[in-house]
Amino acid sequence: MEDYRTLNKASWDDRAPAHAASPDYSVERFAADPAFISDVVLFDQPLLGDVAGLRGVHLQCHIGTDTISLARLGASMTGLDFSPAALTQARDLAGRTGDDARFVEADVYDAVGVLGADAFDLVFTGIGALCWLPSVRRWAGVVAGLLRPGGRLFIREAHPMLDTLSDPREDGLIVVDFTYFERAEPMSGTRARAREELLAAGGRPRRSRIGGVEALTASELRVARRAALGHTNRQIAQELFVTIKAVEKHLAGAYRKLSIQGRAELAEALSSAAG
Ligand SMILES: C[S@@+](CC[C@H](N)C(=O)[O-])C[C@H]1O[C@@H](n2cnc3c(N)ncnc32)[C@H](O)[C@@H]1O
Repeated sequence: MEDYRTLNKASWDDRAPAHAASPDYSVERFAADPAFISDVVLFDQPLLGDVAGLRGVHLQCHIGTDTISLARLGASMTGLDFSPAALTQARDLAGRTGDDARFVEADVYDAVGVLGADAFDLVFTGIGALCWLPSVRRWAGVVAGLLRPGGRLFIREAHPMLDTLSDPREDGLIVVDFTYFERAEPMSGTRARAREELLAAGGRPRRSRIGGVEALTASELRVARRAALGHTNRQIAQELFVTIKAVEKHLAGAYRKLSIQGRAELAEALSSAAG
């Protein structure tokens, strides 16, 4: 499990600068407009209610754009993440904007020890946070420990059923390929082991996918069509109630099958196939 944690952290360290530079996170708009808030927090605002004056903690805050958005709604925010590279981006942005947000590097499971018990009125988290954690029960204990009595947890996550679905398949079917129930081991280990077992038993794992627009799964097509219309990954995730990770995965699958380099070529690739 420690190997998984190290690998996962390295992957977030690697992605943080790319996310900060990506239009999906709108970092420069935060810097340019002190009233700007993220699409995520804008979407959540009606359910969040009034957060002005609350002491809030954003668990797994990544590059801090949602943390800063909550600060802009009047909460005094602390963001926590275990990726130093993500926090470099978050601190850099908060330093530029001067919002009431500070950032702490820690594993989410150590949050109570690091930030203090009963220290917050609001815990905010989600959009691809829980799926990385090995134990939801331990996580819930952390949330309970951070909140003052009567404090509030706000979470928006994809339904865990989505994480059980197969990668794109040659036959286009969407099947349950991963276990729904929590287990201590990461999913990728499960899949790798299944493949090894299949090979050991003389089976032949699926070969690589076929190409062309007909090869896109229904999910890839849904995501690709929206991306071709200019929707950002975050917007697509919100529209389809899936994680940004799932959007990235479906787009990567679509690019590969359409033999294109990226978003700019999508509209043409989809329309030439339709026509
Ligand atoms: C998809 S991002 C969450 C998105 C985030 N809500 C946002 O504002 O964009 C997942 C984050 O979880 C963090 N993370 C994963 N496992 C963690 C752990 N055990 N402790 C703390 N942070 C963790 C990663 O570093 C990453 O920044």
